[in-house]
Amino acid sequence: MNYAATREDALAQIAAAQDLGTLETLRVGFLGKQGSISGLLKTLGAMSAEERQSTGPQIHALREAVTEALAQRKAALEDAALDARLASEVVDLTLPAPETPRGSIHPVSQVMDELAEIFADMGFAVATGPEIEDDWHNFTALNMPETHPARAMHDTFYFPDKDGEGREMLLRTHTSPVQIRAMIAVVKDNPGGAPLRIIAPGRVYRSDSDATHTPMFHQVEGLVIDRGITLGHLKWTLETFLKAYFEREDIVLRLRPSYFPFTEPSVEVDVGFALLNGKRVLGGSGDAPGHGWMELLGSGMVNRKVIAAGGLDPDEWQGFAFGVGVDRLAMLKYGMDDLRAFFDGDLRWNAHYGFNPHDVPTLSGGVGAGA
Ligand code: DAH
Repeated sequence: MNYAATREDALAQIAAAQDLGTLETLRVGFLGKQGSISGLLKTLGAMSAEERQSTGPQIHALREAVTEALAQRKAALEDAALDARLASEVVDLTLPAPETPRGSIHPVSQVMDELAEIFADMGFAVATGPEIEDDWHNFTALNMPETHPARAMHDTFYFPDKDGEGREMLLRTHTSPVQIRAMIAVVKDNPGGAPLRIIAPGRVYRSDSDATHTPMFHQVEGLVIDRGITLGHLKWTLETFLKAYFEREDIVLRLRPSYFPFTEPSVEVDVGFALLNGKRVLGGSGDAPGHGWMELLGSGMVNRKVIAAGGLDPDEWQGFAFGVGVDRLAMLKYGMDDLRAFFDGDLRWNAHYGFNPHDVPTLSGGVGAGA
């Protein structure tokens, strides 16, 4: 047997292999269980001792040479494959980074989160009610009977059909119906009812549209029901809330007598501002030179009829309530001047006025610190 020729032939085949698959086929053909070189090794056992002594080293050398050649060819083919990949997958580091999808928290959501945080610290829970309401919750239970002129002032969107109980259906015109729902719910869970401390942020609807009015806008309602509640509690609560919200200790409030059907007495709350370069900056007494008062919210002591409509005994329970525009609170704190832009869905506006989703408002961090 001419081992040298066998070897030359094997090495030539290996050198000619152009891919790893062909090389593997060759390896199996030479060194696999049924391979030709493995077959030669098996013949050693049948040889005489002298024959084995002269032939054995030649077969072993052949196997070693082929093993070595296979390994080298494999490494060469792998290198070539890597070079080919590097050549085809070019990364141009001078290109701009690809656009990644970005989202931000809408100022209305941000302000609602801030309000929830501030009021939670004073023991208020967040309550909700339906945006599609009936006229009993939206008006009648709030001391606005059918003939009440305040109903006409609300520019209500009505639905064509009544509900199963014959009640007119509408898009709620304010968050005040949540007062009624919250009282009824607390009485149901707990006979005797109150105490109750809630805020109710949400969407409200009125048929009205200009730079400061949109058909849909946001309010937050506040309601406290307990024994021995007075206007003093109302004033302290609003002061504490507004100082935390505007992150200023010098917020000054003025309570003016007013009228709402659901409160008695009713108060309009103004907040003092200073004029700086023609801009209104909240803080300080509105009576100081260069200062003024801005109307901010409606509030008052909950009317006895409203407490009764909520299923509570007005001789035992008193309360205060307030309602304020969330969009307006956002505009005052973050400086937008056109309410309509809040709801245009313009991504440039959202990116400019929006908030980082990772900056969750906290009292310790300053509720609006993410701005
Ligand atoms: N619901 C009133 C509105 O939308 C706002 C309001 C005023 C709510 C006085 C109150 C309140 O709870 O006490 O105009």
